[in-house]
Amino acid sequence: MTDRIAEYIAELFAPEDDVLRALREEADRSGLPPISVPPETGRLLQMLLRAIGARRVLEVGTLGGYSAIWMARAMGAEGRILSLEINPEHAAFARRHIARAGLAHAIEVREGAALQLLAGLVGERFDAVFLDADKAPLPTYFEWALRLLRPGGLMIADNTLRSGRVPDPAFDDPELRGIRTFNRKLATDPRVTGIVLPIGDGVAVGVVG
Ligand SMILES: C[S@@+](CC[C@H](N)C(=O)[O-])C[C@H]1O[C@@H](n2cnc3c(N)ncnc32)[C@H](O)[C@@H]1O
Repeated sequence: MTDRIAEYIAELFAPEDDVLRALREEADRSGLPPISVPPETGRLLQMLLRAIGARRVLEVGTLGGYSAIWMARAMGAEGRILSLEINPEHAAFARRHIARAGLAHAIEVREGAALQLLAGLVGERFDAVFLDADKAPLPTYFEWALRLLRPGGLMIADNTLRSGRVPDPAFDDPELRGIRTFNRKLATDPRVTGIVLPIGDGVAVGVVG
């Protein structure tokens, strides 16, 4: 997708309000890495969660809370998000901005390494799982998502094209290998029907069952 097309989609469908803009600006000033989802991906998340009437979402990778705020806004008063974050500074920043957005009751940021925290969630059920943390373990996150999602639930993952490097065999590293294996599983595993959408940095979406 050209920059102009991405800009057109973002401007038309995903204008940021003051809360989201302030979060992004303060994240830059505070030295958080500029790796939140772009606004158009935030909008896509909202549309997907609305489509399935999501009430309970698991996010892996909170950063400053930007994507969690986009998602929570689409989920109504009953909506709840559990977001996992390994970096305590990111978690503290996110909690501050989630409170400022008036969503402290809806979004819980849980600190720790995702693979450890996921093991503590066995027996819980989510309507959607958004994978947006480290990429090398994506194939393992895929299995966790299947274990925690209800039938008809959505597995979503960001950065599944990685600036176009994923389809290009000239590039190789553990993160790209994780993404490629994840995408292949999403394409071929009979437990899920999925696709990668060329929105933002590539958003993978799969429906379970
Ligand atoms: C791409 S950012 C998340 C962006 C966020 N979803 C958004 O769009 O606003 C990835 C985050 O995952 C966190 N992270 C990386 N590895 C992790 C792990 N193993 N467990 C939990 N969080 C992790 C990083 O500290 C970082 O804050």
